[in-house]
Amino acid sequence: MDTKKSVHGEWSSRTAFILAATGSAVGLGNIWKFPYITGENGGGAFVIVYLLCVALVGIPVMMAETMFGRRSRENPINTMQILTKEAAADEHWHYLGWMGVIAGMLILSYYSVIAGWACAYVVKSFTGSFFDINATGAKSLFVNFIASPGELMFWHTFFMFATLLIVARGISKGFEQSIRFLIPSLFVMLILLVGYAMSTDSYFKGLHFLFNFDFSKLTGNSVLIALGQAFFSLGIGMGAVMVYGAYLPKNVSILETTAIIAVADTVVALLAGIAIFPIVFSSGLPLDSGPGLIFESLPIAFGNMPGGWLFGTLFFIMLVFAALSSSIALIEPAVSWLVENKNMARNQACFYAGAATWVLGFGSVFSFNIGSDVTLFGKTFYDLLDYLTANLMLPIGGFCIAIFAGWMMLQKHSEQELAMGNPLHYQAWRVLIRYIAPAAIFFVFLHVVGVL
Ligand code: PHE
Repeated sequence: MDTKKSVHGEWSSRTAFILAATGSAVGLGNIWKFPYITGENGGGAFVIVYLLCVALVGIPVMMAETMFGRRSRENPINTMQILTKEAAADEHWHYLGWMGVIAGMLILSYYSVIAGWACAYVVKSFTGSFFDINATGAKSLFVNFIASPGELMFWHTFFMFATLLIVARGISKGFEQSIRFLIPSLFVMLILLVGYAMSTDSYFKGLHFLFNFDFSKLTGNSVLIALGQAFFSLGIGMGAVMVYGAYLPKNVSILETTAIIAVADTVVALLAGIAIFPIVFSSGLPLDSGPGLIFESLPIAFGNMPGGWLFGTLFFIMLVFAALSSSIALIEPAVSWLVENKNMARNQACFYAGAATWVLGFGSVFSFNIGSDVTLFGKTFYDLLDYLTANLMLPIGGFCIAIFAGWMMLQKHSEQELAMGNPLHYQAWRVLIRYIAPAAIFFVFLHVVGVL
């Protein structure tokens, strides 16, 4: 198994893998979702729980997932089949690979709709729609926008198309080339925006909100949300990391690269909070406005501040770049499966996987307008998909990955694959993956179903 390479090729270097995996991790989850769910869950205490989830559960699971992919060098479905055989485990384990491919497409179907909002807001900001806008104006701009199925559909289609254009070009020409441009520009824009937030008079209020640990606001449900967010933000529990791991050269250290990616992802989420909260506070709008947070509050601030036109446009371009470097990872498990198992050319695989995801996205498009009354368990189609994937499928996927890596896979195989020079590092990982990570996920679930 040692010399095998993926049919799709390999990352050209360790840096290329780190950039691509950071691109997959850093996305709407960091810049759009993290600030608004932190707002909804009371700030500081939620941030601490989130950090614990990343360190104790996220990193060990991410290492396991990368290791699975690199060992088999195939798509997540084949990976789980190959590893199940190798470990002589029950064959049902291979459904884990299926769940990953499906979760990726489900997530991308709504991810692309929200990323489409960001594309539309680049144009709105650039053409001066935020100029001198007040709270009512910004709200109606957003409400009218999402009330139009045609507009949402247009931007959803636009974004899906951009994603598929990159994925169709393959690992080195598509993924690597675009990521080398997207990630550095994203970091530069983020730093510029933090500098901008520092110049507002609500800067310290924003910092205080993010880092003031008021545990009284924390509920069991918010712990589940923090855990789900850690999975979503790192992009783990569903095969995207597995598939990127399949293109990882043998001699690269999984511990080091994973740590760099997880730290980069967390730093971006925190920096996004540091940039966004002061700007939101200075707009005077409430923080708990949900998914609309950055689309309603930020335009007011941008429309009324010196340089707001430029920074507003930069902000939404940054959001689009972050989303694009994640969306390509979300569809890759399905595309690689179609290429490897159904003998399709990459273009053709992109077409089928993309078309299915695009059509599914209509459900989310309509749940903001003509279908907003259609609910199941009190949730719209979009809310339901978001809850199902981020809060259920990813943590369950992560739980199964931890159990498989810790209890099913032979110790000598994981030791060999992780190749950590220091035996203490391996032992620490093993304790985390066998006991701590599964127990943490399990208890959070018990709490949510009301047993605890
Ligand atoms: N991590 C991405 C984000 O934060 C989303 C994602 C989830 C990407 C799962 C890949 C896999 O937006």
